[in-house]
Amino acid sequence: MNEFTGYKELGLVNSRDLFAKAVSGGYAIPAYNFNNLEQLQAIVMACVETASPVILQVSKGARSYANQTLLRHLAAGAVEYAAELGCEIPIVLHLDHGDSFELCKDCIETGFSSVMIDGSHLSYDDNVALTRRVVEYAHQYDVTVEGELGVLAGIEDDVHAAEHTYTEPDQVEDFVGKTGVDSLAIAIGTSHGAFKFKPGEEHLIRLDILREIEKRIPGFPIVLHGASSVPQELIQMINAHGGKLKDAVGIAEDQLREAARSAVCKINIDSDGRLAMTAAIRKVLDEKPEEFDPRKYLGPARESLKELYKHKIVNVLGSNGKA
Ligand code: G3H
Ligand code: 13P
Ligand code: ZN
Repeated sequence: MNEFTGYKELGLVNSRDLFAKAVSGGYAIPAYNFNNLEQLQAIVMACVETASPVILQVSKGARSYANQTLLRHLAAGAVEYAAELGCEIPIVLHLDHGDSFELCKDCIETGFSSVMIDGSHLSYDDNVALTRRVVEYAHQYDVTVEGELGVLAGIEDDVHAAEHTYTEPDQVEDFVGKTGVDSLAIAIGTSHGAFKFKPGEEHLIRLDILREIEKRIPGFPIVLHGASSVPQELIQMINAHGGKLKDAVGIAEDQLREAARSAVCKINIDSDGRLAMTAAIRKVLDEKPEEFDPRKYLGPARESLKELYKHKIVNVLGSNGKA
């Protein structure tokens, strides 16, 4: 690790204490993906204004889009920015959907305080072995690790899974015990992206499977991916200003709220932010075709994102006031 001693030097924290408090307090920590400055500003402003802890998520795609050095400095800057705004909130920098030991190792060496190793597409034994390897490495640096069991439908790690493979409750205790992970992502009917249910399909996630999983590993931190709600007013706004999003639908907020009250302590939201930004940008460009200053459309997009993130924290996750 040369001179750099890791994420603590950047003022970041790992997820361990945050999850312990979230599980016992019956709320979930927001895990918001970011790829650029405006998204990060909106996340920090929303979390400061609601006094919420936050997990800043960086995908492999975000790292190559925005440059991993810049993203790390942005995350470190977020700690100072939050203090400047008046509230020192706990901030985790987390790798979303790490797909190899090498990627996780690289992130740990360059300032991430938490990593996900997603071996959900591997055989059970290979998933256990890969996850165990990442945990052994990460824990030497006090970096926390999220594993995944079960496969979400939709797009995950560039793999298109047409059908869900729900997490098998009978496997979770063995997986957690053998790997030593700090949290577990499960598949209970959520999926990535803005098209989570087919037309005519019932919009329900399997909270019954969640309850079964909780019985096997009581109090263990559970993570929900693919948890965007795809607000229909954003879809209408996008389509009213030239967009073409048909049959976009997400997870109902009351189901997420119920999950957050239980052992679900991290809820991943990316697509809703994409929709909020797109809607705001389309509106400005449609209504003011003469506009060409990026601040004039990225500013409203940032404001809309901030309101969305605050709404999630207060009305869905319940993490307001927990910083
Ligand atoms: O789970 C996927 C996240 O929404 C990140 O998406 O890989 O396109 O950055 P991305
Ligand atoms: P959404 O696509 O539902 O926002 O899920 C994001 C996610 O799970 C990131 O890992
Ligand atoms: Zn995900």
